[in-house]
Amino acid sequence: MTEIAPTTTQPALEVLDLKTWYGASQALFGVDLNVMPGEVVGLVGRNGAGKTTVLRSIMGLLPRQTGRILIGGLDATTRGPAARARLGIGYCPEERAVFASLTVAENLALPPSIGPSGLSEAEIFALFPNLESRRHHYGGQLSGGEQQMLAIGRILRTGARTLLLDEPTEGLAPVIVRQIEAALITLKRRGYTMLLVEQNFGFVLRVADRVAAIEHGAVVAESIVDDPDLAEQRLAQHLVL
Ligand SMILES: Nc1ncnc2c1ncn2[C@@H]1O[C@H](COP(=O)(O)OP(=O)(O)OP(=O)(O)O)[C@@H](O)[C@H]1O
Ligand SMILES: [Mg+2]
Repeated sequence: MTEIAPTTTQPALEVLDLKTWYGASQALFGVDLNVMPGEVVGLVGRNGAGKTTVLRSIMGLLPRQTGRILIGGLDATTRGPAARARLGIGYCPEERAVFASLTVAENLALPPSIGPSGLSEAEIFALFPNLESRRHHYGGQLSGGEQQMLAIGRILRTGARTLLLDEPTEGLAPVIVRQIEAALITLKRRGYTMLLVEQNFGFVLRVADRVAAIEHGAVVAESIVDDPDLAEQRLAQHLVL
């Protein structure tokens, strides 16, 4: 009888023993992390723990790093940021980086296409209805929440299916946080993969399947989000609650 090998699913994103330095100062001390296709992993931790540095290192934006980064099973370690993006990954930075002197429509027209699954402008407006009435407004005229929606919309234009989101709810009013939450849950249902950096732990528990806690530049605990209270208990000592 022939044996059928079990089908193994490749992680959408794999980070192995990642160490990163800013000049002489080491910020990451061997981060191991993986995100399966369609999974949302929350990355939490105190200020300065290294969350943003993990995302920047995955994108290849920091010059001094060691370890390995695999995107969709392909080794991206020696590739530059543009080549990593072409492997299907999109980065939404903490500072949102919306072009202030371009309109919403122009901001959405700008990103390069990296694959066939890029959302149309209409699909982005369906996901973020607030943006549609702001179509001809300049980036600089938008509220913080609208800028965040535009920043997420922009990476969805590219066709990226793995999203790295850095504190998408930071500084936003609860009503806007709920709109972003609804959009991320819609994207999750559509099979997008996400690594979600957040300080808002309640938000993480509502969106993520699994949460990793980072402390002093290393992942120190992980929990699946089976029961939100249990997940909170498992990670509480690593959080600012
Ligand atoms: N440009 C930089 N130059 C030097 N050190 C930096 C730089 N950016 C970050 N660091 C240091 O690297 C460490 C990790 O910072 P990082 O920004 O990744 O933390 P974080 O978890 O994202 O924090 P926050 O919650 O405040 O956004 C910190 O000690 C920080 O001071
Ligand atoms: Mg940060």
